[in-house]
Amino acid sequence: MDSGSSEENGVRERLKSLVKACMDAAASLRFFPGSVRVVTHYDADGIASAAILTKALLREEKRFHLSIAKQLSSELIEELGREAYGMIVFADLGSGMLEEIDKKLLSAGKRVIVIDHHERQGVINEERMSLIHHINPLEFGISEDISGSGMSYIFARSMNPENRDLAFLGILGAIGDSQTGSIREHWGVLGLNQEILKDAISSGRMKVSRGLRLWGRNTRPIHKALEYSMDPYIPGVSGSESASVQFLQELGIELRNSHGWRTLSDLSDEEKKKLSSAIIAERAMNGEENPEWIFGDVYDIPFMSGELSDASEFATILNACGKTGNPWKGVGMCLGDVRCVDEADDVLTEYRREIGRALAWVNRNRDCIRESEHAVCLIAGSNISEHLISNVISVMHRSGMLPDKPAFAFADTEDGNIKVSARISDRLLEKGLDLKEIVTRIVEKTGGEGGGHAGASGATIPKESLELFISEAESILEKRKSGKTGTQENNLNTSQQEKIVISGSGEDGSAESEGPGEGEIERREAEERRGQEGREETDNTEMERKGLVRYFLS
Ligand code: C5P
Ligand code: ZN
Repeated sequence: MDSGSSEENGVRERLKSLVKACMDAAASLRFFPGSVRVVTHYDADGIASAAILTKALLREEKRFHLSIAKQLSSELIEELGREAYGMIVFADLGSGMLEEIDKKLLSAGKRVIVIDHHERQGVINEERMSLIHHINPLEFGISEDISGSGMSYIFARSMNPENRDLAFLGILGAIGDSQTGSIREHWGVLGLNQEILKDAISSGRMKVSRGLRLWGRNTRPIHKALEYSMDPYIPGVSGSESASVQFLQELGIELRNSHGWRTLSDLSDEEKKKLSSAIIAERAMNGEENPEWIFGDVYDIPFMSGELSDASEFATILNACGKTGNPWKGVGMCLGDVRCVDEADDVLTEYRREIGRALAWVNRNRDCIRESEHAVCLIAGSNISEHLISNVISVMHRSGMLPDKPAFAFADTEDGNIKVSARISDRLLEKGLDLKEIVTRIVEKTGGEGGGHAGASGATIPKESLELFISEAESILEKRKSGKTGTQENNLNTSQQEKIVISGSGEDGSAESEGPGEGEIERREAEERRGQEGREETDNTEMERKGLVRYFLS
């Protein structure tokens, strides 16, 4: 069998090292004799991480205490240092606070496991390295397409093969962290997330099909789903409720049934086909590039019902749990706790009401939006909560309320700083714009700390740095436009190259060199069907050959 190119082997080696580090960390947790302290982030990714660790620790019959935090501040680390726990596990946060962890926890003799995917900040004193396991894909040269919950999954899987049934939570967190994207017409999770997805599928906890890429297939009235659809854009329909209604009526698609508004999942196959063809025709007629690129992976969680059976909607609800002060309910939902699952609707309603209030405030105060040549800023002060500002800017940005420029939103924080949330469209992302890089550079000037991803990034900066932040952003974007930064547009970055290589890995562990272009979705569908059909009679060993699991066997 072809052993693959050196690049492919490189990726496989890096993955092996990552899994090895997870296994070492998992062993140190398993053999730690006392109770364990767990701290995770309060967004969808952090909540999914919390659920994974909770289940994994319960399986090991470990005593633990979990907290879900807005951020890992120095104060929180100090508090943890005063507690009696001898081992602390951080997930979806921690890498940005290594120095504080070193000074306040390791130097007090505590053992620490950091499971994260954010950029590292600071170094650990050489003498105390034996007290910490820092498992972060960036440390192994893997830069994207893995979330905090994906890392928590690999960690949990390292602890016990039974935890393979938690892989779906790794995907849920990745979707919550906006780690869906496209390579040509393929749209879905990519790279390492694809490997975790295989585990989720083979463990029977997630199903993938191909469908129209509209948000809210189980909960959003179909005319609303069309109205809110900006990517894919439907000319003459996106952005207008009445045009969406008319579009459906002209196709003879009923808007209501006896229970109320119909959602995408209520449509018959025939109606879905008719709708897809009409959307493609509308896009083609209006000169949209690649009019037929309107489909994507639909991730279904078969043992959940209602909105929680669609991974995108589940991820939104997890996020809503965090942002409305109910992260615990999110953990319960992930673990299938019936009382928490029953509250999904209420949490989502409350969250929508709060976002609605914030959007109404923006509408009444249009001067809070400041547009410059290269960027658009939403300056909310204390009028929008720091917990909601990122969601508000995402909604505004996605729904076409803002021009297609990098968008920055600012809100006052409870502790006297400013929370910044930055977003760019897929179009700008594909052009090579990297918000993480931009925000990181700005924060070097303004003070504070920031990070995130190329398409969605955030920061906390001192209150007095607002204007400096805005002018720095403008100046970096201006320089970039005039080609002074050296960043090449349209060049594949390393992570995109990795995506292709990892996705090309064969089912039996061999690396095929083809990328996930044409035929990839069909291939995966067939693979999934085989997984489904063969589940009863296939023994574990055979299923374990799929996905990430093979790295645990070599
Ligand atoms: O908060 P928001 O959704 O805008 O964050 C976008 C991304 O930026 C997330 O990945 C988040 O973890 C990251 N971020 C960060 N440092 C901050 C705020 C956000 O790395 N201070
Ligand atoms: Zn995350």
